[in-house]
Amino acid sequence: MIKIIGTIIVLVLIGVAGGAATVYGGVYNVAATAQHWPVTYQVLDMARIRSIKAHAEGIVAPDDLSKEARVVGGTSHFSEHCSICHSAPGVEAEDMAEGMYPKPPMLTDVSKRYTPAQLFWILQHGIKMSGMPSWADHGDEALWDMVAFLEKLPDLSPADYAKLVVAAKAAGGHHMHRGMNMGGMDMSGMKMSPDAPAGTAAPPSSQQH
Ligand code: HEC
Repeated sequence: MIKIIGTIIVLVLIGVAGGAATVYGGVYNVAATAQHWPVTYQVLDMARIRSIKAHAEGIVAPDDLSKEARVVGGTSHFSEHCSICHSAPGVEAEDMAEGMYPKPPMLTDVSKRYTPAQLFWILQHGIKMSGMPSWADHGDEALWDMVAFLEKLPDLSPADYAKLVVAAKAAGGHHMHRGMNMGGMDMSGMKMSPDAPAGTAAPPSSQQH
């Protein structure tokens, strides 16, 4: 019995020493260029998906996600904040996204993998250790607009997307489409993008900030 306990203690000590050497000795390579082992990747992937599903339970989606105004509002945010990393129909992600690990995925089919509530949770909280930010500062309504856009995304051609970007600008542009009160000033009457009035054929761009 004492022998068994002794062996267990020795094994635990070896494990702790190995862990300490890996962490303090800098053995683990944090380089974005050093890919995970396939098994590590699969475990992280599963952990992410299970975590999102578990944490999104209880979130109830509004029933007007297919409303045009929501899709247009979501386009405004997507073209400003998301396409730089995730790309969009007819718009490539920026070089920065190429160098990221994990690389931001294209979101064309993301609404088939997650429910609207799960997408909302992802946008609200972001994803730890990945570069996917939380967008909670935008407020729930803007996040639901982005979910409405993601639901529409599988059907959008580059031309459809370009039209939506123009419509989003015509509706007041980024952060303005709901007459949001920013920094104590009511800017609902102001146009953010006087260079792109309604009907102007502007190409979709991911560099509008
Ligand atoms: C700085 C780059 C970056 C920006 C900007 C960004 N994301 Fe992400 N996003 C990521 C990365 C990286 C992942 C992958 C996370 C992972 O696999 O762990 C991700 C994952 C996601 C996912 C989950 C995909 C999946 O299959 O699990 C969704 C949905 C998403 N992003 C939506 C958005 C939206 C909408 C915006 C804009 C409001 C946005 N992202 C802005 C980098 C970014």
